[in-house]
Amino acid sequence: TLPEPFVRALPVPRVLAPVRTDGTTEYYEITQKAGNSQILDGPKTPVWGYDGTFPGPTIVSRRGARTVVRHVNELPVPVSVHLHGGRIAADQDGYPTDLLHPADAGQGDLDEQGEMVARTGARDYVYDIDQPAATLWYHDHRMDFTGPQVYRGLAGFHLVTDDVEKGLGLPEGDRDVPLLIADRSFAADGSFLYPSTDPTLTRTPGVSEDYMSGVLGDCVLVNGAPWPVMEVRAVRYRFRILNAANARRFRLRLQDGPAFVQIGSDQGLLPEPVEQVRIDVAQGERFDVVVDFSGRRAGDEVTMVNERGSGGTAQVMRFVVTGTADDPSVPPAELTGLPELETLREADVVATREFTFRRGGAQAHGLNLWTVNNLAFDPDHVIARPRLGTVEKWIVTAQNAEHPFHVHLGAFQVVARSGPGGGTRGWKDTVNLDNGGQAELLVRFDGHRGKYVLHCHNLEHEDMMMMANFEVV
Ligand code: C2O
Ligand code: CU
Repeated sequence: TLPEPFVRALPVPRVLAPVRTDGTTEYYEITQKAGNSQILDGPKTPVWGYDGTFPGPTIVSRRGARTVVRHVNELPVPVSVHLHGGRIAADQDGYPTDLLHPADAGQGDLDEQGEMVARTGARDYVYDIDQPAATLWYHDHRMDFTGPQVYRGLAGFHLVTDDVEKGLGLPEGDRDVPLLIADRSFAADGSFLYPSTDPTLTRTPGVSEDYMSGVLGDCVLVNGAPWPVMEVRAVRYRFRILNAANARRFRLRLQDGPAFVQIGSDQGLLPEPVEQVRIDVAQGERFDVVVDFSGRRAGDEVTMVNERGSGGTAQVMRFVVTGTADDPSVPPAELTGLPELETLREADVVATREFTFRRGGAQAHGLNLWTVNNLAFDPDHVIARPRLGTVEKWIVTAQNAEHPFHVHLGAFQVVARSGPGGGTRGWKDTVNLDNGGQAELLVRFDGHRGKYVLHCHNLEHEDMMMMANFEVV
């Protein structure tokens, strides 16, 4: 049985300390391994986590510095680590077939192409971070198996900070709280219930027809705890909201509470704060918000609800006010020094491309697949070749389901989108599309050449082939 809501204290993932630093670089180490997490009141839940925890530890990088993360794979399966939202060199981006094999896979194994397995046991991901302060996250991206591997726990925050952000007077320290929201279901023995065709995740990928639209849970976890409660003072807090669910989109509202004041989007801070009573957060999207509890009294309760859910999934977490405190942070309305938004313009566009996300056009394992322009993902097929440093207009259409569209490397601005909800302001890397909906995006490709993916961030759609390559040339 699921725990009572609003009893468990909100956990906050620990911030990872570098194992060493030199003048320009911070070195981190993470071991991907099995662990056990006390999520339910009964038996512990086996997880696959970064350092054995779900969520993994938070990494904080300064803009302009190099961050090197050594990942050690002690799991029984191959992995690939993607820094979602990072503008990262292609060979460090966690390409779906750029795998880190388990330590015991042995040197000299052959991969499917008959080539020697290059990486077993450990590898360094080198991130030269030169992008504005933003809430990024890292998660598994193994081809065909991202859904089940993230579901088992392979996700964590990676925050980028810069001097602009530091000078603003935003809430800091324990008033700057990342919230990783995801739904899960549990088996009677406490384990996560994920309907993999092959539970060992070594042979046949995917899920059966019943789960083709995505795997949903009946319990909402925030930072790995079911419907947690957080004690707050009657002051301003900054929450970095991430929807890390496989297939659930959340519409969040603070019941009996203040509005969200959105200060940032996927790729960084907004040029001005925007008050929003509800926010629609698609899988992979981030909303950086300030919530002002001032004026509340000790004992007041504010519940974060999900207006798109029902039963257990209609509730997310609760804040309980415990008293007053000093608040040195600047009220959002008085923030000065927020970064200007450099607005991309139609006149800058050098190419226009259309992408249709739908079900059909290709088949495998007896299933009708999710496709991009009627093509199933093929690591060797490149669907678009944008030029480095240019801006393109991408018109993305969703059919047969809602599809959160995500592009690696390229940051974009949404110039038009059908359907309700926020999530279109500022620089973004993920945008939700309603079923039958369309968005027009201006995408800029900067910093790196090479082959990257675009895909649906419904992870079951992604695993069932809704992904394509583009190559920056
Ligand atoms: Cu968050 Cu390609 O993924
Ligand atoms: Cu989709």
